[in-house]
Amino acid sequence: MGCMAQIISTLNINTPEYKSNYAHNKQLAEQLNDRQQKAATERSQRTLERHRKRDKLLVRERIEAILDDNSPFLELSPLAAWDMHDGDAPSAGIVTGIGRISNLECMIIANDPTVKGGTYFPETVKKHLRAQTVAEENHLPCIYLVDSGGAFLHLQADVFPDREHFGRIFYNMARMSGKQIPQIAAVLGSCTAGGAYIPAMADETIIVRENGTIFLAGPPLVKAATGEEVSAEDLGGADVHTRLSGVADHFANDEQEALERVRDIVSHLNRAKTNPLVMQSPEDPAYDPDELYGVIPSDPRHPLDAYEAIARLVDGSRLSEFKSRYGTTIVCGFAHIMGIPIGIVANNGLLFSESAEKASHFIQLCGQRGTPLLFMQNIAGFMVGKQYENGGIAKDGAKMVQAVSNVNVPRITLLHGVSHGAGNYGMSGRAYDPRFLFSWPNSKISVMSGDAAAGTLWTVGERGVMRGIENPTAEQIAVAEAKFKAPILDQYAHESNPYFATARLWDDGILDPKQTRAALALSFATTLNAPFPTDRFGTFRM
Ligand code: COA
Repeated sequence: MGCMAQIISTLNINTPEYKSNYAHNKQLAEQLNDRQQKAATERSQRTLERHRKRDKLLVRERIEAILDDNSPFLELSPLAAWDMHDGDAPSAGIVTGIGRISNLECMIIANDPTVKGGTYFPETVKKHLRAQTVAEENHLPCIYLVDSGGAFLHLQADVFPDREHFGRIFYNMARMSGKQIPQIAAVLGSCTAGGAYIPAMADETIIVRENGTIFLAGPPLVKAATGEEVSAEDLGGADVHTRLSGVADHFANDEQEALERVRDIVSHLNRAKTNPLVMQSPEDPAYDPDELYGVIPSDPRHPLDAYEAIARLVDGSRLSEFKSRYGTTIVCGFAHIMGIPIGIVANNGLLFSESAEKASHFIQLCGQRGTPLLFMQNIAGFMVGKQYENGGIAKDGAKMVQAVSNVNVPRITLLHGVSHGAGNYGMSGRAYDPRFLFSWPNSKISVMSGDAAAGTLWTVGERGVMRGIENPTAEQIAVAEAKFKAPILDQYAHESNPYFATARLWDDGILDPKQTRAALALSFATTLNAPFPTDRFGTFRM
């Protein structure tokens, strides 16, 4: 048990404020679940019928079939491309996530052929590459369930030529294979052009009779290019590739057999996870995670009490706090989540020099001890003004960025409130490569708040706007100011929305607060597949 103090909640669940927060956040969670459900299942009748006629399972059924019984699946970015491309690319046409096969955590990357033939939109590419990055950083075997028409040709300029575009998929496969991270492909449908390199690059490849095809150019292109007339099956079907070309290794009579073969291959990978951590037995929090709906303020300008949130996420609601009397706008401490030891760095107000230094010190402790870190990000920014700038707050923020960037333990970031400015950097934002970054439906992310941006732009733009008017009255100025600010406020409201963010893969998904503990535990468990390098310095006291 240790001597960690249990957080004593002061939350009163009978106040009108709690009740209105609860109703508001519960509704946000329902909206999230509804949107995820629709992205996963809403397809035209015609598309679904054609798919079934081909004796194919739906993409999520395929994943279900390869996972161990009752194994959870941590799906990443299910709302990628949300509200983009006229709604034509639900989940960006690809499902990615982590699940157990033969008791090994694997990354599954599965095309959804019911979304524009499984073709790659820009967000599809981004999601595929992100899944590969997660796999590479955490040493997860990759399972590719291929059924795709390759690039979405209308947007070729945004998917083909650049460093982080389609070609990177195969580079990643080669690099991971070189690091002994297994790459396994099952070709369950079309695998055309560049896509053909997925099975061609995999360590081991399965192909399904009739449905599976692999070729650099399909029959229509071959006819156009050389005049040769050939059927898809003769050009690159399962028989051709397992008997003549050797591009694939295993012939499967149907999809079920192919998926069973995936499981069989994984069972022979001869890998085991070595866990470097001292674990405890998992224990529920002392306070019900359901109460998080009432902890999160419905008005984002109201503070969110970090202790109340932590008490509903960690084992036994226990937190062994570090420097509790110093730099109190940041909460640091050791805890467990489903038995896994973690260090928590959670905002509880603006960042000051002392809070930044305290966090830097604590991050070093976690690095020294090999304790994974959870950043709970709810930060409007660093404190501004003469006193603080003169006191060197920029160099104290830089210490935090230095510590976050170089600490060698896995970091996971939960964006549970707002995220603005340099606070995003010090608190392990997306640019700092946390192993996972999740957000809550109430979160907001933008360089600064809409109010601050509109105010700043008005300050620098007022003179230009008012130029033509001689001696404007206070009322004229007020009208001009409101007109000037309105579109900026609208833009910031739209772009700081968590759905705008998740659609563009600035995170790995939005989590229902109530499900967050389970998702974090799975994510931390996943990070333990890769060994931790050690830090090279002793601890600098701050
Ligand atoms: N780019 C853009 N749109 C594409 C596409 C591509 N590469 N491939 C398919 N689509 C679209 C189709 O126009 C269709 O759109 P609609 O629903 O609005 O009518 C939808 O995706 C489904 O395609 P469809 O051919 O009806 O489905 P299918 O399941 O019978 O076949 C494919 C899917 C992928 C096998 C087939 O469409 C195909 O061979 N596409 C061309 C693949 C290719 O040559 N790609 C080159 C990539 S570099």
